[in-house]
Amino acid sequence: MTTLISGGTVVSATGRVKADVLVDGETIAAVVAPGSTALGSDLASTADTVLDATGKYVIPGGVDCHTHMELPFGGTNASDTFETGTTAAAWGGTTTIIDFAVQRTGERVQDGLAAWHQKADGNCAIDYGFHQIIGGVDEESLKAMTYLVDHEGITSFKLFMAYPGVLYSDDGQILRAMQTANESGAVIMMHAENGIAIDVLVAQAVARGDTDPRFHSLTRPAELEGEATHRAIQLAKVAGNVPLYIVHMSASEALEEVGAARHAGGNVFAETCPQYLYLTLEDQLAQPGFEGAKWVCSTPLRTKHEHHQADLWKGLRMNELAVVSTDHCPFCFKDQKEMGIGNFAKIPNGIGGVEHRMELLYQGVVTGELSLERWVETCSTTPARMFGLYPAKGIIAPGADADVLVWDPNGHTSIGFGKKHHMNMDHSAWEGFEIDGKVDTVLSRGTVVVEDDTFTGPAGHGRYLKRGLSQYLV
Ligand code: URP
Ligand code: ZN
Ligand code: ZN
Repeated sequence: MTTLISGGTVVSATGRVKADVLVDGETIAAVVAPGSTALGSDLASTADTVLDATGKYVIPGGVDCHTHMELPFGGTNASDTFETGTTAAAWGGTTTIIDFAVQRTGERVQDGLAAWHQKADGNCAIDYGFHQIIGGVDEESLKAMTYLVDHEGITSFKLFMAYPGVLYSDDGQILRAMQTANESGAVIMMHAENGIAIDVLVAQAVARGDTDPRFHSLTRPAELEGEATHRAIQLAKVAGNVPLYIVHMSASEALEEVGAARHAGGNVFAETCPQYLYLTLEDQLAQPGFEGAKWVCSTPLRTKHEHHQADLWKGLRMNELAVVSTDHCPFCFKDQKEMGIGNFAKIPNGIGGVEHRMELLYQGVVTGELSLERWVETCSTTPARMFGLYPAKGIIAPGADADVLVWDPNGHTSIGFGKKHHMNMDHSAWEGFEIDGKVDTVLSRGTVVVEDDTFTGPAGHGRYLKRGLSQYLV
């Protein structure tokens, strides 16, 4: 089966060109000048299918390297299954996710990983890989880390400086895990918030009766994100300059630390998420009553009276922030977020967004925050390179997987319930957002999975991706 995507503008991290894209089976066979006969014939007349992309952008499908399908967290489970979550991702032009397999304290790493394979296997609409959360650093889990790199295609490990008593690692454990990762070439992903200090502030707030959702942010001050980020960077240096990737960054203080470390030449990287670029403590988290629970996530939404959002956009332009992921961790309002009525500390942490990342970041192109090329780079190409998936993913080039998003810059997307919303949630954190562009067609390994506002993907089409080492290191 061949498909010609004709007449569009192919956008990469480095530029844009009018070109036709020939897909043969699951991969891209050629990128040629429009109407070219260089391959011996007029491709439009010989291809099995022709997709007309005139006036549209043809970009590599999105790579969302931070999702939590079915995550057990805060006494409940994230509400998207691998099936619903990856289908929603496809609706939004994301064709690869990297989810986090979890080892909880007291559990064997391999058992946690096996459980994740069981949840995902045969259920995904698009391709997927795993990072591994190490929730208990000890001799056995350290050995398992090396095994996973060598045999399972898992080359990145998330540690937590937050959530004491749940997934938290102390500095000694972090150092040991970093040393181990450094030996195998793996990346350490860090949830950088000082969880010990945060827990003191949370207990004090609850004792005072300050229990509304907005206190979630007020008890997780930006200084404690900056402090933890600094500490993680120093520990990574001591561990032999292990590649360090700071996840879900929300604070200027943390960005400054990453900027300084990168300026000094370190393999230090960071991601942010759409919620930190668009949503704030005042406008969302502090909504009257319990409404703000919809936006409880960690790191938290920050105040609009400081300059976090402007700094994060600038960080994206300057490559202090290399990636935009979603940290998709959806919970319904009813029965899930409601667990925290009367005590914000019991609200399950997380926001759903896997469907909307490409759309929301494109709006940043429209408003002049990012270039078109940088949109592609931060949402597709760099995450693929960062986590060892390139050049199968993250690029439109011969030999790459035919994961393609055809984007219509003249279309329009209204996000929200009853409008565009396919995640398994009873509300949208993005209600009312309007996007000056639209997902037109999505291909996953050559198969059209979204077309004409319809999901057409075959069930269980997505494959597990064994990943290589990071291809983004300096
Ligand atoms: O609020 C969040 N981020 N929930 C998911 C868990 C994590 O820390 O990434
Ligand atoms: Zn985290
Ligand atoms: Zn997360």
